[in-house]
Amino acid sequence: MILVTGATGTVGSAVCTELEGTEHPVRAAVRSPDRFDGPAEEVIEFDFTDPTTYRETFDGVDSLFLVRPPQLSRVRRDIVPALAAAVGAGVEHVVFLSVIGADRNPMVPHARIESWLDDAGVETTYLRASFFMQNLTTVHREEVLDGELFVPAGDGATSFVDARDVAVVGARALTEGLTGAYDLTGPEALDYHAVAAILSATLDHDVRYTNPSLVRFLWRRYRIDRNPSKAAVMAGIYTTARLGLAGRVTDDLKTLLGRAPTDFETFTREHREMWQ
Ligand SMILES: NC(=O)c1ccc[n+]([C@@H]2O[C@H](COP(=O)([O-])OP(=O)(O)OC[C@H]3O[C@@H](n4cnc5c(N)ncnc54)[C@H](OP(=O)(O)O)[C@@H]3O)[C@@H](O)[C@H]2O)c1
Repeated sequence: MILVTGATGTVGSAVCTELEGTEHPVRAAVRSPDRFDGPAEEVIEFDFTDPTTYRETFDGVDSLFLVRPPQLSRVRRDIVPALAAAVGAGVEHVVFLSVIGADRNPMVPHARIESWLDDAGVETTYLRASFFMQNLTTVHREEVLDGELFVPAGDGATSFVDARDVAVVGARALTEGLTGAYDLTGPEALDYHAVAAILSATLDHDVRYTNPSLVRFLWRRYRIDRNPSKAAVMAGIYTTARLGLAGRVTDDLKTLLGRAPTDFETFTREHREMWQ
């Protein structure tokens, strides 16, 4: 049995899709089962912050696809209890959706999760993913629709990766027992001037990159959802890009996929209707 957490999210849902039709039964762990419409043999109610959901969730599970919900940053309090329950229930392999740089930055929650898993006596696979192309069809969709990319990334480049490619590797790790740590990036690093140019060339309207200051960005994000900690996390991510630290391109994904990872232009063409 494979358990997929975050099964309604960007990568978790794609992992369920990739696992469909394999010989491995899949249990999707979601907070609201009625909101899950992906493929899975079983759907179970699960919340990292609700220990009463753990027993049924992890019962009979061999392998776990682990997604840390973005709003849960207190690892010891919010993530470790569920992981301890999973290991206690006999889970043997954890495939963790981590973030690129987690091995060099002990401050990110992903590093603390990796560290806990290292000592947990389970097989591990760490998918240290770069920034998802899908952020432009989710978090920044409205901006692309309005023709203005409003992120404080300066002229720094980002090695955007298609979350679907990450999911292909995740599914392979789960079904083939692939272990180890991988830095998963797309095939190229693009700054947001280039991103806006590709979007403009593909869509029926122009998209400008306005490169706001950090203060203007924080203020606008705060006005959108009144969530200062989310705005601060986003500001940190774009500052990393602004400082030129988000552009590293690796061969790991190409090697694992046996083909070139999806490039941003292809992604844009395939998702064109999301921004029309
Ligand atoms: N976005 C990126 O570019 C990127 C790149 C590299 C790594 N990552 C990492 O990938 C992870 C996922 O990020 P994302 O932005 O892609 O998220 P996402 O697609 O929004 O997925 C988050 C998932 O977590 C679930 N969830 C939320 N709270 C939960 C809880 N208390 N218990 C159980 N499930 C819960 C959500 O389900 P509901 O339907 O219940 O809300 C959703 O399925 C994060 O750790 C992030 O740091 C992201």
